[in-house]
Amino acid sequence: MPSERAPMPRHIGLIMDGNGRWAAKNGLPRSAGHTRGAEVFRTISRYCEKIGIEALTTYAFSTENWSRSADEVSSIMNILRKYLRDAFNQEGETSRVRFIGRRDRLAPDILSLMEEIEDGTRNNTGLKLNIAVDYGGRNEIVHAAREAAKLVEQGRISADEIDEDLIESLTFTSGCPPLDLLLRPSGEERISNFMLWQCAYAEFVYMDVLWPDFTTEHLDRAIEEFRSRNRRFGGR
Ligand code: FPP
Repeated sequence: MPSERAPMPRHIGLIMDGNGRWAAKNGLPRSAGHTRGAEVFRTISRYCEKIGIEALTTYAFSTENWSRSADEVSSIMNILRKYLRDAFNQEGETSRVRFIGRRDRLAPDILSLMEEIEDGTRNNTGLKLNIAVDYGGRNEIVHAAREAAKLVEQGRISADEIDEDLIESLTFTSGCPPLDLLLRPSGEERISNFMLWQCAYAEFVYMDVLWPDFTTEHLDRAIEEFRSRNRRFGGR
């Protein structure tokens, strides 16, 4: 468990990267990497809840991931299906789950599962768990801009009333604490269209471990790194 020094992050963003490389390293098909990745995610999200993280947002499938081979897209969707059927049906589930991203390109049965989970966990008071599926940060900003334009069109606000608070309230993560820590394992050091708006003052921690090998100790280490940083939010 992390020590009690500086504040803990309230909201963690997670890019689960390295599943494919882990599979290749172990002589397995890429789908085995994603399967293992989903299991690790379950462990990590439960651990976040246990140590009192308020919100966790994870990148399960990006708007760009559709360009992967049909086989890989379908295996990721099948792993997601199974996860949605199993993971949130447990007695004692306390997390409040939201799916963020586009909803117009997903299979109808996956959409129904998402809606059932959102409805079934809406009043839970534990970890706010956002799972990004067909998500892109640019797409999210376009979505918020369109919603703001509609409010102007309807005469409910003037264009000058579009401000940061309004755009924030129109993002998919509205109601969550500000993003404190963006965590990316696998050694890649980029943002890959994830939480572009929310990253404004997040601390980035990149780790040299493939996601399927990620453990609660790695998360503790990332949190310690976060707590050792001097956050100034643009001030002195
Ligand atoms: C990135 O690794 C991972 C993905 C694109 C998919 C992640 C999906 C899951 C773990 C399964 C479903 C999600 C949940 C929340 C149950 P990569 O394939 O880009 O790895 P590589 O860079 O090593 O090739």
